[in-house]
Amino acid sequence: MIDILRNRRSIRKYVPESLDKKLMDFIAEALLRSPSSRNINPWEFILVDDLAILKKLSRAKAHGSNFLENAPLGIVVCGDETKSDVWVEDCSIASIIAQLQSHSLGLGSCWIQIRNRHHNSEISAEKYIQNLLKIPSHLRVESIIAIGIPDEKKQPLSKEKLDYGKLHKNLY
Ligand SMILES: Cc1cc2nc3c(=O)[nH]c(=O)nc-3n(C[C@H](O)[C@H](O)[C@H](O)COP(=O)(O)O)c2cc1C
Repeated sequence: MIDILRNRRSIRKYVPESLDKKLMDFIAEALLRSPSSRNINPWEFILVDDLAILKKLSRAKAHGSNFLENAPLGIVVCGDETKSDVWVEDCSIASIIAQLQSHSLGLGSCWIQIRNRHHNSEISAEKYIQNLLKIPSHLRVESIIAIGIPDEKKQPLSKEKLDYGKLHKNLY
C-alpha cells in the first residue's frame, strides 16, 4: 500500500484506448467494497465510457474538468442525501478507493470536484450533470473520477517534501 501511495499522482493525460473489461470489473468491485457510515452504502456510481457523454461531462465546469474529454472512463460518484447525512464522506472514500485501485492496476486517474462547483453563472456543475445523465435531484453528485492508461509521467513526491509539521502527538 505505501508503494501505491508513494507513486500515485493525478494523471490528466490518457492514451486514447478503451479500458479492458477486466480492469473495469476490478474498479467496480473496489467501489462496492468501500466502507460507509453505518454500512448504508448511500452511493450510486455511473460508469461512463460513451465518448460523446464524456465530452459533455468534460464541460461540467469551466476549469478542471476538460481533460475528461480524452479519458476512456469517468465514474460519476453520487450520494443519496435522503439515506445518509454523511454521504459526502462515504462518496469521498469511494472516490479515493477508485483512484488507488486504478493506480494498482497501472492506470492513471484524477478526481474532478463537482459538489459546490459552478457550471456557469446560472447553474451548478451538479445540476448540469444531473440533467445530462437523468439523475434525480436527491442523488447528489460528489465527483467524477477520470481513469485511463497514463500518457504522462509524474515524479512521486519526495519524502523530504512531506509536511511532518501537520502531525501532532497527543495534544495539538
Ligand atoms: C477533493 C479533491 C478535488 C479535486 N478536484 C480536482 C478538479 O476538479 N480538477 C483537477 O484537475 N484536479 C482535482 N483534484 C486533484 C488535485 O489537484 C491533486 O490531487 C493535487 O493537486 C495533488 O496532486 P497529486 O494528486 O498529483 O498528488 C482534486 C483532488 C481532490 C482530493
